[in-house]
Amino acid sequence: MKDIIIAIDGYSSCGKSTITRDLANALGYVYVDTGAMYRAVTLYCLEKGIIQEGRAVDAGKVIRELLNIHIDFKHSIETGKTETYLNGKNVENDIRSMAVNELVSPVSAIHEVRKVMVYLQRKMGANPGVVMDGRDIGTTVLPHADLKIFMTADIKVRTQRRMLELKERGIKAKEQEVERNLLKRDQEDMNREESPLKQAPDAVVLDNTNLTHEEQLAKVLRWAKEKMIG
Ligand code: C5P
Repeated sequence: MKDIIIAIDGYSSCGKSTITRDLANALGYVYVDTGAMYRAVTLYCLEKGIIQEGRAVDAGKVIRELLNIHIDFKHSIETGKTETYLNGKNVENDIRSMAVNELVSPVSAIHEVRKVMVYLQRKMGANPGVVMDGRDIGTTVLPHADLKIFMTADIKVRTQRRMLELKERGIKAKEQEVERNLLKRDQEDMNREESPLKQAPDAVVLDNTNLTHEEQLAKVLRWAKEKMIG
């Protein structure tokens, strides 16, 4: 069996990160969460006061900071998960806040931000044996990926999943506010000029509205193994 490159894209809160991480673990592959990278840029700008909730994002100010932002991923033996580091600090929890949720789409729509992130992502995904998830992986970052998966699920199911994730992280949020944020982010991600969220023509669709985690993993593992044999 040969190692392959796997690209997973889809709407917000479809469970992309969980399935990507478990698929990577099952295959012994490297896992790259590209959403975490855009979130880390957004967190940095929020902490520096360059962007603020409820205010329009000033692209010029964000661009000027790009050289000061260093993002790494490290595997934690404690949690068994890959965690995101911003300038040496573990920000895995902080990048999931509602403030970051609100501002990440406009920040990720900035051309220069995408240019830098896509460059880093292509380096991380250069060799077979990688699973990368995001919005433009199969279309822009790794268009030559051996397996492309496009994930979708009912908005009500997605809202419940995000509510649970926030609760587990000790973050309080109203259901209506979470649903509104997911729909708004999807709209912004689908309608931006540069590499918008869209299904690659050669992607297989995974609608997990009515699937358990185990059923999803079994499905994607089967798809991956078919490509690894072929
Ligand atoms: O996947 P996650 O929800 O963490 O992504 C956060 C945001 O980062 C998305 O809503 C999108 O605006 C942006 N993103 C992107 N391109 C990617 C991954 C994420 O624009 N490849």
